[in-house]
Amino acid sequence: MLEVKSLTRRFGSLMAVDHLSFQVEPGTVLGFLGPNGAGKSTTMKMLTGFLAPSGGTAAVFGHDICTDALAARRKMGYLPEGAPLYGELSVSRFLRFVAEARGFRGDEVGRRVGEVIERLSLEEVLGQTIETLSKGFKRRVGLAQAILHDPPVLILDEPTDGLDPNQKHEVRRLIREMAPRKIIVVSTHILEEVDALCSRAMIIARGRLLADDSPAGLLARSRYHNAVTLVMDDLEQAASRLGELPESREVEVRRGRLTVFPASRGNLFEAVMGVVQQEGWQVEQMQLEAGRLDEVFRSITGQEAA
Ligand SMILES: Nc1ncnc2c1ncn2[C@@H]1O[C@H](COP(=O)(O)OP(=O)(O)OP(=O)(O)O)[C@@H](O)[C@H]1O
Ligand SMILES: [Mg+2]
Repeated sequence: MLEVKSLTRRFGSLMAVDHLSFQVEPGTVLGFLGPNGAGKSTTMKMLTGFLAPSGGTAAVFGHDICTDALAARRKMGYLPEGAPLYGELSVSRFLRFVAEARGFRGDEVGRRVGEVIERLSLEEVLGQTIETLSKGFKRRVGLAQAILHDPPVLILDEPTDGLDPNQKHEVRRLIREMAPRKIIVVSTHILEEVDALCSRAMIIARGRLLADDSPAGLLARSRYHNAVTLVMDDLEQAASRLGELPESREVEVRRGRLTVFPASRGNLFEAVMGVVQQEGWQVEQMQLEAGRLDEVFRSITGQEAA
């Protein structure tokens, strides 16, 4: 497993990563969320040996990233932010180089390279130099080199950044497919990705861990969790009627929609349904809300700013 212990990184007086501790078991896709500058990439760089910690450490299946760095790095694949290095190499030359650097020899080099070319649909750009690739293809080459040696731990810094919708879908599918056997840590700013991809999510701001939960657990912290939203005519009249329900804590009318927030007791959805039927309202849409991740994100990271 991956065990992070009080990992810390300072840049001068800035605490970019502030005593971060967590453990991850295989079969987990852990999402790193947080505002720009939160310390996500810095944490990933430390885990993968590209940056030395100022304090604390981590262990990858028992191999300490500071004292047993090479063994730890063998267990990991890393997609850094931005483009892969060696822009002057062609894609196929670069992937062969990575395969050799990972210790493969003979036929195994071609076999490994062929496999990632297929998984990331790189056939059409094989002869092209990396620096001339479009942004999305650079990301895909970066991913290809990260998974080439089939490591048990993948550290992926914004893996779907810059990909078109089809490729986003493909890369998420690839990550989900690999997930049961691996520890995968992904950073992302795309909140839908948390639900689509992650089994666990951590919200980080100013280098500190502010939340560590399942996607469902994060949604349950939303004020919209179990709220009921209606689209219908005469919202104001409906709002005052629904505000009288003991199951309702608060009613909000915004942009042509009415949202009733649940009080701590009773079944709000059933209660609202009852009123709708009783009053004979013509309702265009009625929806039970799971919760809104963007609102949870803003409230958790905003609290930190305040
Ligand atoms: N080499 C460096 N020297 C000085 N400061 C740095 C260095 N690398 C990162 N930082 C600072 O550390 C903080 C964390 O940066 P980091 O790149 O880890 O953020 P992030 O969470 O990945 O943000 P983003 O969402 O924008 O990718 C930022 O304030 C950044 O400016
Ligand atoms: Mg980053």
